[in-house]
Amino acid sequence: MSDNKNKLVSMEDIVSLCKRRGFIFQGSEIYGGLSGTYDYGPLGVQLKRNLIDLWWKMFVEEREDMYGLDAAILMNQKTWVASGHVDTFNDPLIEDIETKQRYRLDHLLEDNGVDSEGMTLEQMANTVKEKDIKSPSGNKLGNAAQFNLMFKTQIGPVDDESSTSYLRPETAQGIFVNFKNVVDTFYPDLPFGIGQVGKAFRNEISPRDFIFRLREMEQMEVEYFVQPSVWEDAFEDWRNTINNFYEVLGLPKSKIVEHEIGDEDRAHYSKRTIDFEYEFPFGRKELMGLAYRTDYDLSKHQEYSGKNLEYRRKDGGEAFVPHVIEPSMGVERLVLAVLHSAYTEDEVNGEKRVYLKLPANIAPVKVAVSPLLKNKPELVEKAREVYKMLKKEIGNVMWDDNGNIGKRYRRQDEIGTPYCVVIDFDTLEGEKEGTVTVRNRDTTEQKRVNIAELAEFTDQN
Ligand code: GAP
Repeated sequence: MSDNKNKLVSMEDIVSLCKRRGFIFQGSEIYGGLSGTYDYGPLGVQLKRNLIDLWWKMFVEEREDMYGLDAAILMNQKTWVASGHVDTFNDPLIEDIETKQRYRLDHLLEDNGVDSEGMTLEQMANTVKEKDIKSPSGNKLGNAAQFNLMFKTQIGPVDDESSTSYLRPETAQGIFVNFKNVVDTFYPDLPFGIGQVGKAFRNEISPRDFIFRLREMEQMEVEYFVQPSVWEDAFEDWRNTINNFYEVLGLPKSKIVEHEIGDEDRAHYSKRTIDFEYEFPFGRKELMGLAYRTDYDLSKHQEYSGKNLEYRRKDGGEAFVPHVIEPSMGVERLVLAVLHSAYTEDEVNGEKRVYLKLPANIAPVKVAVSPLLKNKPELVEKAREVYKMLKKEIGNVMWDDNGNIGKRYRRQDEIGTPYCVVIDFDTLEGEKEGTVTVRNRDTTEQKRVNIAELAEFTDQN
């Protein structure tokens, strides 16, 4: 068996596996799709859920200083004025004057070999003119403009200015507007944080790269409130937590780069941001961000709501508006990185094999159970018994009796199932009665294991 992990994994490899095996489908596919949306199939939703659960465990549950929250997606419109999103949550766009198709200007420059980092809208537009850059259809480009990424919507039956709101473009603001609620109900000592997982929406000008740039996505965010004097310690602490998280997920260190964002390119609220970038097949791109948001958000909400959002230590001292460290992660980008890093090809008995080398704790199916032959009722009966027992003990266990055993192994390898359990004639009688074959996904080695010890074996090996 030779492992060929050095093969360059392409987006096509991943997209095709996702569709073939029921991980991810195009959104609204039977109607021709809806750009920037994807639907998770039975295996994708389980993988995503496992990633979110692990994040929740490491970023919220296991810590003494964290609280959870699930705020509404729709928020009072003043939230988005206060946060600065109405005025500044823009991307630069430029229009093809023939087709009227709009493009993201910085992406267009990048596609033409120009690094636009730090450039103003005017500088980008001038570069287009100087270099005579055309649209991807080969046409002349028009004027550049800023485009607000928030999806506008009306709340209630009256269609006027006062009923306008937005689908949240980040989950963070739900946390800021609940800061006072958490302080007033839990009296936490500073520093403490609030974690939230939920949908966020951005009307991206050009969604692309499969689930990398979406119009509907999910974020896992922490807003960690600190005294201003210790923000750097908290920043480093979260930086370590993020790196530990990536290690547990099996993302190779060599594929992750911490990119310090320059003054000109940081979001309006940030005094320091590190983007954790991953080497995707389409280039090194932002996987997540760690930002020092200062007291920007709480101060703005205090100003716009008229509510006091200061914090006073229990031992007295002056009240002040806490500062914030924010690790913010997009679930889909994480799913993509995890699939990419797990995708492996090797050769078994002279045949090419594709398998997902997922850590067992995030694999969508932990164990597959099969009768050796599906036309032998005694094998099927015993296999069903083992399947039911394991399902009760482990949860994500799959019944698989389709095709011959070799095909089942290949199918389970492709979806990353760490163990395949096979019930054969030896299980039923003779010296090995009460034992089953357990095949390891990565080594393809098979072992006989006692049925009573299966749950423990598959959990520990
Ligand atoms: N609260 C801070 C915030 O939202 P951001 O850098 O705009 O910061 C955080 O987004 C993370 O959300 C990104 O690092 C990325 O993982 C994810 N994300 C942002 N826009 C996305 C999009 N259009 N599609 C998929 N994920 C996206």
